[in-house]
Amino acid sequence: MALERIIDAEARQPGEESFDLALRPRSINECIGQEKLLEKIMIALTAAKQRKEPMEHVLVHGPPGLGKTTIAHVIANEMTGNLKTSSGPALTRAGDLMGILTNLQRGDVLFIDEIHRLPSVVEEFIYPAMEDFRVDFTVDSGMHAKTINIPLQPFTLIGATTRAGLITSPLRARFGIQHHMEFWSIKHLKQCLVRSAGMLNIACEPDALELISQCSRGTPRVANRLLRRVRDYTQVHGNGKITLEPTLGALKIEEIDALGLDNLDRNFLAALITTYNGGPAGIEALAATLGEERDTLEDVVEPYLLQIGFLARTRQGRIATEAAYKHLQMDFPNTAARANRLGDEDQDDPLPF
Ligand SMILES: Nc1ncnc2c1ncn2[C@@H]1O[C@H](COP(=O)(O)OP(=O)(O)OP(=O)(O)O)[C@@H](O)[C@H]1O
Ligand SMILES: [Mg+2]
Repeated sequence: MALERIIDAEARQPGEESFDLALRPRSINECIGQEKLLEKIMIALTAAKQRKEPMEHVLVHGPPGLGKTTIAHVIANEMTGNLKTSSGPALTRAGDLMGILTNLQRGDVLFIDEIHRLPSVVEEFIYPAMEDFRVDFTVDSGMHAKTINIPLQPFTLIGATTRAGLITSPLRARFGIQHHMEFWSIKHLKQCLVRSAGMLNIACEPDALELISQCSRGTPRVANRLLRRVRDYTQVHGNGKITLEPTLGALKIEEIDALGLDNLDRNFLAALITTYNGGPAGIEALAATLGEERDTLEDVVEPYLLQIGFLARTRQGRIATEAAYKHLQMDFPNTAARANRLGDEDQDDPLPF
């Protein structure tokens, strides 16, 4: 994937981390949207504070860039604890996690990103830590092996993943709060942009922010990134104030269409339609055709195409919907031929004459 993919929800562009950091809400009151999750957290936090206990462990899942890391920061702040962050792939040995856990103070928050990639030896090690705030460490082996019990300070674990389906059920069961993050509404994206523009001291017209919201594929990180690009464009081509015209100009340069789709999204749909006759096609085959990683397609391309109804996932594979054909201005094959190809099991057998 091109590193420059602007609608890529993952933060990996230069300067993006600090930009993200500056705009990231620090308290529940500063947060936009996410009402259901924030309410659950508010209740759990208040109850935990009253009992003088740490808050329950939280598992958040959903596509990248919707606010998982932000939630971890907010919870740590609200608990007035420190936030320690790590990720599934970084914790290769039980010892790595042991070091982190034993250094946690009472009320600290441990955030593990990509928790579905935690190796199984580390995962088993984390169970007693989550349940009883202790770790069992085995020293020596064979006859001399003994398990040492090390107590931990009560802490809250926040797990984040883009792939809820890959989390084992014993791990999942140990999270008291589980929440799936949905794509944001245009209204919330716009509120997020108004907040960001205010913090960055950028003058904007509301219709320009409305347009950016529509092109942000339900993702606040994308909205903030587009705002940054439009700001640069306006500085060079406009009079400094973000209006509709420079916004359109900036989006055109980035080749982002009115629905927020970029070249990778369109190429994905075009490959499905032209190479695989609209599907069903397997994700591996599509990844090979596009020369992309399967994970990239599954994490950052498909969720939004599914959300806007351009893609359907069936047992046989991915299928482009009529709306996708329309968007790419391609002719949708007639339904009978398509149903035939899809081997629609519900169809009556043809009459024998
Ligand atoms: N509730 C919120 N209110 C306002 N802005 C938010 C909120 N949640 C997220 N954002 C904005 O969106 C950006 C991306 O959020 P965040 O880094 O938390 O996403 P993420 O889900 O952790 O992404 P990834 O899966 O790529 O790690 C943040 O920098 C922040 O500015
Ligand atoms: Mg994150």
